[in-house]
Amino acid sequence: MNKLTGKVAIITGGSQGMGASHAKLFVSEGAKVVITDINEAAGTKLAAELGDNAIFVKQDVASEADWQTVIKETIAHFGQLDILVNNAGITYAKSLFDVTTDEYLKIFNINQLSVFLGMKYAAAEMKKADSGSIVNISSINGLVGGAIGYTDTKFAVRGMTKAAALELAHYHIRVNSVHPGVISTPMIHQGDTDEAVKQFAKMIPLQRIAEPEEVSKMVLFLASDDSSYSTGAEFTVDGGLTAQ
Ligand SMILES: NC(=O)c1ccc[n+]([C@@H]2O[C@H](COP(=O)([O-])OP(=O)(O)OC[C@H]3O[C@@H](n4cnc5c(N)ncnc54)[C@H](O)[C@@H]3O)[C@@H](O)[C@H]2O)c1
Repeated sequence: MNKLTGKVAIITGGSQGMGASHAKLFVSEGAKVVITDINEAAGTKLAAELGDNAIFVKQDVASEADWQTVIKETIAHFGQLDILVNNAGITYAKSLFDVTTDEYLKIFNINQLSVFLGMKYAAAEMKKADSGSIVNISSINGLVGGAIGYTDTKFAVRGMTKAAALELAHYHIRVNSVHPGVISTPMIHQGDTDEAVKQFAKMIPLQRIAEPEEVSKMVLFLASDDSSYSTGAEFTVDGGLTAQ
C-alpha cells in the first residue's frame, strides 16, 4: 500500500511499543521515517531492520536543543518534513499525596512540554511547504480522569492539539489527537501487572486490550491524506471503554 508515498515522518518514542509499530506501518506505506527515542540501542536496531527508509536520531523529547537537532537531521537526510507523531510518553500511578514535585515536573516535561516543542519546531518546517499533519498521542486519560500527573498531561495534549489546529489551519497543517485505551506495550507490562490487566480487560466492552497495530491504523489515517478534512479533533481507540 502507498498511503504515505513521498512523505517524511518523525515518530518520537519509536524504539518500542506503539511508536515502533507506527514506524513499521509508515515505512510499509511508503514513508521515510525518522525514529527518535532515548533508547538508542532499540531504536538503532529497528531503523536498521526497516532499511534505507528509516533512520534513528537519539532524542530526549523534553529537550529543546534535541528538537532542533532532530528537525535539522530530518531535513539533512530526507529533505522535507510532512508528518510528526508526538508519541513518546511515560506514566506512573502515584497518589496526589505521594508524587514529588520532581516527579511531577518530569512527567510534565516528557508528556506535555515535548508536544509543545515538537509542534513548534515541526510546524515551522511544514509551514514552508504549506501542508502537514501532526498527530499527538494523548490517552483515554485525556478524556476521563486517571492518575494525577499522567491525566493532567494527557488532557493538556488534547487542548494543545485544538489550539495548534486553529492556528496552523492557515498553513494547511492539520493537528489531531489520538486517545488509546489499554494497549499491549511494555508501558502496561511494567512490573507484575498481567493479572491486573486481565481483570481490567473484563470491564472493556470489547472484552480485551488492544495490540499496538490497532492504534497504528488510526495514526496512519490521520497522518495520510485520507483524513484531509479532519483537524483539531479527538480520535478514540479504546474498545468502547469511554462510551460506558
Ligand atoms: N500502552 C497504553 O495502554 C497506552 C494507552 C494510552 C496512551 N498511551 C500513550 O501512548 C504513547 C506510547 O506508549 P507505549 O505504550 O508505546 O509506551 P512504551 O513505554 O512502550 O514506549 C514509550 C517509548 O517512549 C520512549 N521515551 C520515554 N521517555 C522519553 C524521552 N524523554 N524522550 C524520548 N523518548 C522517550 C521510551 O524509551 C519508549 O521507547 C505514550 O504517549 C503513552 O502515554 C499508551
